[in-house]
Amino acid sequence: MNVLLLGSGGREHALAWKLKQSKNLNSLFIAPGNAGTASLGQNVPMSATDFPKLKAFSLENKIDMVVVGPEDPLVQGVYDFFLADKELSHIAVIGPSKIGAKLEGSKDFAKEFMMRHNIPTAQYKSVTSSTIEEGCAFLDSLSAPYVLKADGLAAGKGVLIINDLSEAKENLRKMLDGMFGASSRTVVIEEFLSGIECSVFVLTDGKSYKILPVAKDYKRIGEGDTGLNTGGMGAISPVPFADETFMQTVENEIVIPTVEGLRKENITYKGFIFIGLIKVNGEPKVIEYNVRMGDPETEVVIPRLKSDLLELFSAVATETLHEKTLEIDPRCATTVMMVSGGYPEHYEKGKPISGIENVENSLVFHAGTSLKNGEIVSSGGRVLAVTSYGGTIEDALSTSYENMGKINFENVYYRRDIGFDLKNLRF
Ligand code: AMP
Ligand code: GLY
Repeated sequence: MNVLLLGSGGREHALAWKLKQSKNLNSLFIAPGNAGTASLGQNVPMSATDFPKLKAFSLENKIDMVVVGPEDPLVQGVYDFFLADKELSHIAVIGPSKIGAKLEGSKDFAKEFMMRHNIPTAQYKSVTSSTIEEGCAFLDSLSAPYVLKADGLAAGKGVLIINDLSEAKENLRKMLDGMFGASSRTVVIEEFLSGIECSVFVLTDGKSYKILPVAKDYKRIGEGDTGLNTGGMGAISPVPFADETFMQTVENEIVIPTVEGLRKENITYKGFIFIGLIKVNGEPKVIEYNVRMGDPETEVVIPRLKSDLLELFSAVATETLHEKTLEIDPRCATTVMMVSGGYPEHYEKGKPISGIENVENSLVFHAGTSLKNGEIVSSGGRVLAVTSYGGTIEDALSTSYENMGKINFENVYYRRDIGFDLKNLRF
């Protein structure tokens, strides 16, 4: 098969690494890709949201399958674009339809979906500028802290958690006035849930589903989970507190109603569902849905998948996923992100990266790199994800940290405490 993979981060490098191992793969193209994906397939300098270009390229290169990494093309309707075009409709697109992608593209849509299907989540109220008084009354009924979310995509920045009631009301007004542009014209106010979070990934063909290994990511820039939110500074899999009983509840109360709900509502969905969960008093509640794999979670989930990913994707396309079984590596996997100093605020790009060739027993997934005159240089905030296996989370982490000591670029930063909340680990 000829596969076009959309995206350019660590998630896409990990997906490319796995797809490359499939006996069914003929050519792999990655658009736009990074310096890591360049060694696994052919990078194509093309935006993942430039649909006319995707069309021309797919026809020219006899693409059989498009695997969509990030949410933007999905929310913009790449699935529907391929399906609606006679010349493209034979090409399998791995990802949800535009309406399915609203599970991530609109928090209000996701909340209403959860309500319709009795899926446990925080109490909420959606507010627009004409219902601001109701929003304030709802805030009055809650206790601190207060959670305000921009309805639409806001590059991971659209969630405010505020301790003071009057400050929360003021920020509600500001959000409705365009603090996050059009994405906060509707604001979802939520009850604050206190607990520990994890990420559950489901692959579905719209009829049946497979649950992938559970992971936990570390979102804050600073050690001890402090400071600004980032795309993710590291991840582990499995998650000790997501035990069998918990995962059985997740499957019964969340995964099944989600897949069934999509089916009952005739929402075409052939791809990944990422369920952001919080464990509150032992019970799972949904914090959010995403319609893609997580990053950096992919860099631990995919290495633990022994089954052929391309075969699974083909089964998704032909709605025969129920015939497949998932084979999972029992080992733990961890990944730690090496980022550009200053990230997630201002940082410099273009720094030459040295030492990757000295890494032993870890996988180095490129997140933000490019090739400049044959040399690997940084090109983003999150630069490399160093993934290792181990008998325990601790073993895997120590291999990652040992190898990270061999890699260098100017102003490199990483958290030395990934997994800290599990066992007070520090490296
Ligand atoms: P989201 O974009 O919905 O995932 O929210 C970003 C982060 O905000 C989540 O990963 C949580 O850590 C936090 N968060 C979101 N909603 C809630 C909530 N209702 N209660 C507590 N924390 C929340
Ligand atoms: N790691 C969280 C995300 O991909 O959104």
